[in-house]
Amino acid sequence: MAPAIDAQPFLKWAGGKRQLLPVLRTYYPARVRGYLEPFLGSGAVFFDLAARGRLRGCPVHLSDENPDLVGCYLRVRDDVEGVIGELGRLAEGHAQGGADFYYEIRDQRFNPARAAWHAADGDAGSYPVALAAALLYLNRTGYNGLFRLNSRGGYNVPAGRYVRPRILDERRLRAASAALNVSGVAVSCRPFDAAAQQARRGDFVYFDPPYAPLGRTANFRHYTARGFSDADQARLQALAVTLAGRGVQVLLSNSSAESIVALYGQSTATSAGLTMRRVPARRAINTRADRRGPVDELVVTNLAPVA
Ligand SMILES: C[S@@+](CC[C@H](N)C(=O)[O-])C[C@H]1O[C@@H](n2cnc3c(N)ncnc32)[C@H](O)[C@@H]1O
Repeated sequence: MAPAIDAQPFLKWAGGKRQLLPVLRTYYPARVRGYLEPFLGSGAVFFDLAARGRLRGCPVHLSDENPDLVGCYLRVRDDVEGVIGELGRLAEGHAQGGADFYYEIRDQRFNPARAAWHAADGDAGSYPVALAAALLYLNRTGYNGLFRLNSRGGYNVPAGRYVRPRILDERRLRAASAALNVSGVAVSCRPFDAAAQQARRGDFVYFDPPYAPLGRTANFRHYTARGFSDADQARLQALAVTLAGRGVQVLLSNSSAESIVALYGQSTATSAGLTMRRVPARRAINTRADRRGPVDELVVTNLAPVA
């Protein structure tokens, strides 16, 4: 039997689920026919499952609607040495130039090259290695692992304030590449509903959508140009209900916003076997440091926790 691959996320992604893993792990099902993760982000749950050998021999569908993110995954999968080479050069530049170098790469290299890629086809499959490396560089050195575009579609995340950021981690990139190269693992750029519709009885689906804002100030949902609306949250709930009714093993995380508690408290959700659990969590994405504090997150699932 192939060994488990001890890989970890290679991106710092806003809303990354590392801190919630101890809770999520208690719901990992004993048997997985196939695994789907339609809001991939940095893939904390995928890499955790892979590292625990829980995905052996089963088809895996990883997807996200952000083509830069998916493009970066594809290049790490297909040309990790090319990405490492480019990223090494960027790390050297950063050691010399710091924040000035960051803005030079963002505004004079990444955004123009990204615009050209967009004009050509904007397809994740054709994301250039140089863009993937630049995205990784900006992600490791920019503010809080944000991915944000301005109204003209330009990446506009400011430089972070890190003294000596770890920009190039070759081991981590190679391990992630190996996990993505396991036969049966597919990565695609798709909206969540198109991706999850194909789930069948016995499959395990982990949904980690952009969280519904808890209040006006916590309004962070810009991973993609389009954002994630209340209507999207409602469509996701309906999909989770349909899948649970089909015998799919569903695990979902979200904020404990009233609207979300109300959605998953509906009788359609409870009769499909979906239950809610509040989990205290510390959220890092808030521009006001004084508003970062322990808040409840919501875990919704039809799986029984294992103690
Ligand atoms: C909370 S993050 C996921 C974080 C991930 N679990 C991790 O550990 O890093 C939500 C992700 O959903 C993606 N997304 C937003 N709207 C989407 C949509 N309509 N369909 C699919 N993915 C979407 C974003 O690009 C973002 O990567």
